[in-house]
Amino acid sequence: MQIECHQCSMDGGGGVRDGSSDQPAGQPTMTTVSRHFFGEDLNDPAFSISIIENMKEEYGLFVWPCSVVLAEYVWQQRSRFSGMTVVELGAGTSLPGLVAAKLGSDVTLTDDAGRYEVLENMRRVCELNDLNCKVIGLTWGVWDEPIFSLCPQIIIGADVLYDASAFDDLFATVSFLLQNSPSSVFITTYHNRSSKIFIIFSGHHLIEFLMVKWGLKCAKLFDGFSILPPNKASGISGNIQLAEIVMDGNYLDEATDKVSPK
Ligand SMILES: C[S@@+](CC[C@H](N)C(=O)[O-])C[C@H]1O[C@@H](n2cnc3c(N)ncnc32)[C@H](O)[C@@H]1O
Repeated sequence: MQIECHQCSMDGGGGVRDGSSDQPAGQPTMTTVSRHFFGEDLNDPAFSISIIENMKEEYGLFVWPCSVVLAEYVWQQRSRFSGMTVVELGAGTSLPGLVAAKLGSDVTLTDDAGRYEVLENMRRVCELNDLNCKVIGLTWGVWDEPIFSLCPQIIIGADVLYDASAFDDLFATVSFLLQNSPSSVFITTYHNRSSKIFIIFSGHHLIEFLMVKWGLKCAKLFDGFSILPPNKASGISGNIQLAEIVMDGNYLDEATDKVSPK
């Protein structure tokens, strides 16, 4: 794939986007490379990450606003990420995971095992940024061999709560990974598209139900915009929440009781 610079503009997440089309005439598929900057002073950033995006393609080939928020959070929490083992679920274009890798985490980027184009793009962005992350297919709720070798201290996932029919499988995978590594945490950003589905703390609804089902609890929940610098916040709209989810201690105690000899 050739990337030529046909245009440069600020994108919604404060990244600079260079665009080109790599399809024959009549079948426009816009391939772009966006650059995302991180630092205390964005006039003098600590580093940038370049992401290859395909604007006409499926979910995993586009930098979603939730990813911009989560990547910024990883940067701001950088002392927490240095030297940690990190797995990104539904990574798509992988911006948060690449920031973690840049900060010294040992990162495994994952996405649906059947989405070869997305997985291939993840390998390309690693190469483009000279970052040595592992890339594996990991479909939520599927217990293929690679998942058993993962012991992440931090699990991240941006905009992975968007299809209610996949929530149960996602939480099953998150719960499995959290149990594999004591004191681990799942940090996720989600777009509050439907208040009925996406309220975590109150009401009788799917996420709360599934968190209880899978022995999880929300340790932190806040407005994603509260951590974004103005230049990144200005291009994003909507209601993006950031949640930190951990195993519920009671659940672990109960689970241990069940298997412990009396
Ligand atoms: C809305 S996109 C978010 C992509 C990226 N995290 C971001 O925020 O830019 C959702 C991602 O979840 C992945 N995904 C969807 N269903 C999945 C499943 N059952 N197992 C694993 N990944 C899945 C998609 O391939 C896609 O990359």
